[in-house]
Amino acid sequence: MPRPFYLTTPIYYVNDAPHIGHAYTTVAGDAICRWHRLLGDDVFFLTGTDEHGLKVAQAAEANGVEPQEWTDRTSERFIGAWRQLGITYDDFIRTTEPRHHRTVQQFLGAIYDRGDIELGTYEGSYCVACEDYYTEAQLIDGACPVHHRPVTRMKEQNYFFKLSRYTDRLLEWYEANPDAVRPATKRNEALGFIKQGLDDISITRTSLRWGVPVPWDPGHVFYVWYDALVNYVTAIGYGDDDARFQRWWPAVHHLIGKEILRFHCVWWPAMCMAAGIEPPGEVFVHGWLLVGGEKMSKTRLNHIAPADLVADFGVDAYRYHFLRDAAFGPDGDFSYEGMVARYNADLANNLGNLLSRVATVVTKKCGGTGPAPPADSPLAAITADAYAATAAAWDRLAPHEALEATWRLIHEANAHLEAEEPWKAEPGPAVDAVLGAALEVLRIVAVLASPAMPEACDEVWRRLGLPGSPTDQRLPEAATWGGYPGGLPVEKGPPLFPRMQPA
Ligand code: MSP
Repeated sequence: MPRPFYLTTPIYYVNDAPHIGHAYTTVAGDAICRWHRLLGDDVFFLTGTDEHGLKVAQAAEANGVEPQEWTDRTSERFIGAWRQLGITYDDFIRTTEPRHHRTVQQFLGAIYDRGDIELGTYEGSYCVACEDYYTEAQLIDGACPVHHRPVTRMKEQNYFFKLSRYTDRLLEWYEANPDAVRPATKRNEALGFIKQGLDDISITRTSLRWGVPVPWDPGHVFYVWYDALVNYVTAIGYGDDDARFQRWWPAVHHLIGKEILRFHCVWWPAMCMAAGIEPPGEVFVHGWLLVGGEKMSKTRLNHIAPADLVADFGVDAYRYHFLRDAAFGPDGDFSYEGMVARYNADLANNLGNLLSRVATVVTKKCGGTGPAPPADSPLAAITADAYAATAAAWDRLAPHEALEATWRLIHEANAHLEAEEPWKAEPGPAVDAVLGAALEVLRIVAVLASPAMPEACDEVWRRLGLPGSPTDQRLPEAATWGGYPGGLPVEKGPPLFPRMQPA
């Protein structure tokens, strides 16, 4: 029975078009899921769009269309961006779908029935961009601490989730589940919020119609965050298909950016407890992708669309760059110059060179037929180590380290060729041994790098004369030395990653 592996991205607001910050999480999630498919796991990869709330309603109004039309259009742009980036999600959830409305009403209805939602009056400051409330003490010069924009005073009768009742239970749960939030610095941040003591939160609105109606009091709609978080259980059959729900929950991996930690690491586990289900198994919190030292945002006009970079670099190099360039955890700075430099070093030179060299020499010295790898090649042990390091890094959700380990293997194979210089030697067993070993490294690299660069790895596979695709292989068997059978036609082809001029 394959192991279940359930991974989610945040669902993105449709107030704006997708940018490379959204793609950062989505590509990472996709690559991690592709890795798990190679391991033979039963993967469920969920992404989608968050379509209710004031921010989206205002974006629709500013564009002179109804919210539904606006969300239909914008969610299509996310779907289009993910198609272009080769994102293999298993489900794309939209919070305006009837299935989601039903689940939100069931899930929050369960909390209400169990007594943890009560009516009260809310009065305070609200930042529309955050879709979040702030206390006076949190404001900076009277403005939102994140967006530095004016906040709105609000007073309304709301339903409140009795979050204050969950302080101790959350602390106990964190104690019992030390890896529930990673990295540890983010776990400490979440614990810090909880230890301060938690206030009840207002979870409904009467001032807005664009949301999921509260089933027991239809004059109210649920506050967008409360509706959005529930998407993670809607998609796996909560309240609808219990066997399916049990298969995926609570062993979920939620990938999120650091600005939404409080919602996922404090509110969401408490909501799950209140509804009578287990809190999520893991929340992995990553940093921001900065452009010119700042987070991308609509207000700062520093958006970069994935399509613009794909046009220059291609999909594989795009994916590779964002997976490899910065550690997945801390903030990372994007620069076009840095992307060109890494492309030239890692793809045009390191991988591209290995492939074109090997294919050229096989053509010249072996009549274009690839020899089988010798069992005693010095590259065999190096490959085993590289596989172990690659697998361990993917397992701890560190794509940058995984790719670094795989690229060390490519580097070693290039170094081996340079030491042996098969291009200078007479054809014969010695040349065959060196080339067979290099072909075997390329075969294994095509499998190990396929979560990052699926199309390029398919092409490497094809040029080695191998049938099928690296994505159909199973690990660890496919990384075991000796799999390249030899006797296959090797094709040289044009450069896989032509060198780019520095920007
Ligand atoms: N709709 C909420 C999430 C609800 S989840 C139940 C939301 N949406 S968002 O469109 O603002 O997307 C936030 C997520 O997009 C971040 O948590 C992060 O995963 C990703 N990113 C958006 N900008 C980013 C960067 N500049 N850098 C890295 N990731 C970024 O919040």
